[in-house]
Amino acid sequence: MGHRYIGSKSKIIDIITGKISKLVPKNSTVCDLMTGTGTVAIELANQGFNVIANDLMTYSYHHAITGLKFDAEPTFSLAGTLFQTEQLTVSNTPYQAVIDYLNESPVEKGYFWREFSVEGEPNHTEKPRNYFTPENAMKIDGIRKRIEYLLANHFINNQEYSLLLHSLIMAANDVANIAGTYGHYMSKTVKRAEAPITLECEDIIIRSNSSAHIVKQGYAEQVSSEITCDLCYIDPPYMKRQYAANYHILETLARGDEPEAIGVSGLRPWRDQYSNFCTKTKIRDSFRKIIGSINCNKFLISYSEDGLLSVKDFKELLEPLGELTIETFEHKRFKSNNSKLNNTLAEYLILLRT
Ligand SMILES: C[S@@+](CC[C@H](N)C(=O)[O-])C[C@H]1O[C@@H](n2cnc3c(N)ncnc32)[C@H](O)[C@@H]1O
Repeated sequence: MGHRYIGSKSKIIDIITGKISKLVPKNSTVCDLMTGTGTVAIELANQGFNVIANDLMTYSYHHAITGLKFDAEPTFSLAGTLFQTEQLTVSNTPYQAVIDYLNESPVEKGYFWREFSVEGEPNHTEKPRNYFTPENAMKIDGIRKRIEYLLANHFINNQEYSLLLHSLIMAANDVANIAGTYGHYMSKTVKRAEAPITLECEDIIIRSNSSAHIVKQGYAEQVSSEITCDLCYIDPPYMKRQYAANYHILETLARGDEPEAIGVSGLRPWRDQYSNFCTKTKIRDSFRKIIGSINCNKFLISYSEDGLLSVKDFKELLEPLGELTIETFEHKRFKSNNSKLNNTLAEYLILLRT
């Protein structure tokens, strides 16, 4: 299944990168300030741009590291002693051997089983949650334990750690019993969720210029003062739905922690990743802060017809800051499986030259 992410630009990637290519020459530095799945940053790097990718979320960090920072096939060179002590055979690549080792992790009745499967007894609520089958939840617990063991014992480096967590997140997405986001689980287990979770080797893009790409994690409002680029692409949340709440389980996989899971949905405490772009009264200040502090004079903003700000709001906000052009095109809407919303909506590309 891959990524299912609200606002992912995978279906309109050609429009976005085509527009950016017309605005700045190849070899320029382009910042993807809210990179999400990393789709735009990775395609820009494929096309010869130097990329700075940033997001608030830890899972985005791991996706961007995986997509941008490998300059050779992962060798897992530190894992030599692991291969010996665990008597692993490297029949294919070291990467495949580590993925096989993770897929063979002993199942465990751990945090995911307790909090996110119907067999568990969650700490803070009576009713067990049905995000994963008990078998998959136990497997996830086992895999998480092995990944943390590999890191703690220096069998993998930080980049390989990101790669393995990226693979775990992608595999968990395939078998999660959800309609679209992790905001809720489905009461009845869908067929897709019954398949056993399996990690797979990624087709890693090997980049000879990987050092030209930078991956950051932080609030755009804060990191922007550290960034110099020729064009800044900004793809903020459009609606009130906070990503930290809607993808809390992916964040927990990415952080490798065991936070208190609260309420019916089992949310981790997420206020430390609260986004101002999901609150109408705070968006304008955040845009002003970013545009005022980043060392850049071309901004391309993606936004949508059903977003919190209207075209009129954007004109009022951005016209005082520079020369503004707004293009509109039709885009297929992100919908959860049971949503009754229309299929298409207008998507905006807002260009500001300061
Ligand atoms: C519409 S999505 C981006 C989708 C991305 N272009 C893609 O194709 O996957 C918006 C992203 O903004 C991030 N975000 C929200 N507020 C942020 C902030 N203040 N600073 C940095 N990232 C933020 C969210 O975590 C989310 O990943």
